[in-house]
Amino acid sequence: MSRFFHRFESRDNPSGAPGIGELIESHARRELLQRAGSAVGAAALRRAAGAGALLGLGGCAAGGGTDRRGGGDGGSGDASAGSAGSGAAVRSGRLGFSSVPVSTEDAVRVPEGYSAQLLIRWGDPIGHPEGQPAFRHDASNTADEQALQSGTHHDGMAFFPLPRAGMQGVAVRPAPGASSSHGLLATNHEYPDYGTLFGDHMAGWSLEKVRKAQHSLGISVVEVRGKGGVWKVVSPSAHARRIHAGTPMRIAGPAAGHPSMRTAASPDGRSARGTFANCANGWTPWGTFLSCEENFNYYFRGRAQPTPDEARYGLSARNDITRWARFDPRFDLELHPNAANHFGWVVEIDPYDPGSTPVKRTALGRKKQEGAAPAICRDGRVAFYMGDDQAFEYVYKFVTAKPWNPLDRAANRDLLDEGTLYAARFDADGGGRWLPLVHGSGGLVAANGFASQADVVVRARQAADLLGATPMDRPEWTSVDPVSGAVYVTLTGNATRGRAGQPGADAANPRAPNPHGHVLRWFEEDGDHAAGSFRWEVVSLGGARAQGAGGAEGRSMGGAAARPHAALPGRPLPAATPAATPAATPAARAWGDAYANPDGLTVDARGVVWILTDMPPTAAAEDRAAFGNNQLLAMDPLTGETRRFLTGPRGAEITGVCMTPDGRTMFVNVQHPGEADGAGVDPRDPRRVSNWPDFRPDGRPRSATLAVRRTDGGPIGA
Ligand code: FEO
Ligand code: CA
Ligand code: CA
Repeated sequence: MSRFFHRFESRDNPSGAPGIGELIESHARRELLQRAGSAVGAAALRRAAGAGALLGLGGCAAGGGTDRRGGGDGGSGDASAGSAGSGAAVRSGRLGFSSVPVSTEDAVRVPEGYSAQLLIRWGDPIGHPEGQPAFRHDASNTADEQALQSGTHHDGMAFFPLPRAGMQGVAVRPAPGASSSHGLLATNHEYPDYGTLFGDHMAGWSLEKVRKAQHSLGISVVEVRGKGGVWKVVSPSAHARRIHAGTPMRIAGPAAGHPSMRTAASPDGRSARGTFANCANGWTPWGTFLSCEENFNYYFRGRAQPTPDEARYGLSARNDITRWARFDPRFDLELHPNAANHFGWVVEIDPYDPGSTPVKRTALGRKKQEGAAPAICRDGRVAFYMGDDQAFEYVYKFVTAKPWNPLDRAANRDLLDEGTLYAARFDADGGGRWLPLVHGSGGLVAANGFASQADVVVRARQAADLLGATPMDRPEWTSVDPVSGAVYVTLTGNATRGRAGQPGADAANPRAPNPHGHVLRWFEEDGDHAAGSFRWEVVSLGGARAQGAGGAEGRSMGGAAARPHAALPGRPLPAATPAATPAATPAARAWGDAYANPDGLTVDARGVVWILTDMPPTAAAEDRAAFGNNQLLAMDPLTGETRRFLTGPRGAEITGVCMTPDGRTMFVNVQHPGEADGAGVDPRDPRRVSNWPDFRPDGRPRSATLAVRRTDGGPIGA
């Protein structure tokens, strides 16, 4: 999500918890972090090093890309991205492409030897059997048409092979033999920007406009096929489906039927209508898509006097940004106080069954949900790692009560309804604990306002407060390294850490303020994702604009002046180690290309960590100059080397990424191109910042999915 909503953002965690431990001096912190990485981490990385060697790395990228910019109508098959390599690719560790330079162009740039093809844009018909209305460039499509077109503001995404295939590995990806040329792409659509969604912004605000906004969010399931390196949407397709803010859903798990879930439209508290604010995502080993509801509070007209529980989730009259309540009373909390309890969940969707009812899985807890990355526990149960994206919120894990059944898909249908939810405590000594959010334990009892597990999951934030979870710098995406089993989380930043009355720096959030964010990883005790404890370390700090010349941030990573501050036992130093920089910050495991505000994240089958950025257009001028447009980078988890792989158009964030099982196509989402300072795209002049990807004189910027390929067909990034 961009600053579109975060400009309204404030801390909703009033607990005043100081984070873990006390402020520690940076030298001591460095030692602690070295220790954190030295035991479990080193062993896991040694295993990873061996596995990496066995995987065999492909050859260097070769050949020149074309620099074609789509003109005219720019059909979804058109290329509109060019390659912009900077010399011959040098393979080092797992990375085999040349860094793309920082860009301020209104274009997508990928390395030499790669191409990025437009696959589906906001408003493109998805091939729905009921109709394929064309996009109108003046944004005059109706609400009904929008329900048959791709939603807007593309975000988390997953590829499901056709035919459906088995999953394998600790981080459960489709088996390599699964189709990599035919599948279903499930994509989240996060929020509506009325500056692009409507030709006249909010003029004549109406039920029709509210409905169009509601239909522009949710999820698109699109059938896609790749042939000869070119991907196309299959149309019409019996699989094509739009799920949006009006789609009937089921509520399952501990909160189903609870009085707090009962509304006028759902008297039994077991059904809900719609999903929106769909940000990061996950998937299950049985091949379903997990869509995560993030900033749901901005869609409700909160009460003038919110209850403490409502305030904890940012529900207030002030935060009624989208103005749906005016024509859709279910979004008015004065009238329907429980309506907001239907949102903030992980929603499970079966992309293979277009007639299936999406299910809100309340056992995973209610939060401003960011992702649900799966990992298989030693005994076959499934863990899901989650973030809650707001300043000083928490990292969570859910472990199913029962193992999943690889032989009987139907047996897993309700596996997510039973299990244990945990919040993370990151200790200053590099250890960490998973704190169980279980009714009846740890003070989660009626006397403290938790009369049942339903209370615990509906108010997961407050339950985690009570247990002493560690307030983090806005946890965004999570991902599990299928090679080493390490779990990564992006912490996109927190400019308010250290302010008067706010928690200061701690070991896991070592900068106050932290405008540029960081990446953290941990290894579960004994490598088991069901473990109750873990060892963690900071991997990288964003914001290395000074390239070694400035303060601590400047020395953390970036360019030729930086290097990993220490090699873990068994970890090779990078092949081209620049001169050592003294007194690097504790997090200087990463080096190479610098970036700010890590947000999206995925670890691919080779163990390469892909980091997507969301630096807001309101960032400081020197940050915008240093980092340019938002981007996608690859980090070698063994060496820490980081290379910029893709840069986006102006005003966009890069978010949402997945690969085909063979690792030879990467789907990447470009969200909110053209966003200007202030409040989204300027409705009076929508092309002022960006006219990507269509570049029509009468058009408007559009979020879109790209299919990135190597021109020689080789594995991405190798
Ligand atoms: Fe939707 Fe936290 O980004
Ligand atoms: Ca973000
Ligand atoms: Ca995000």
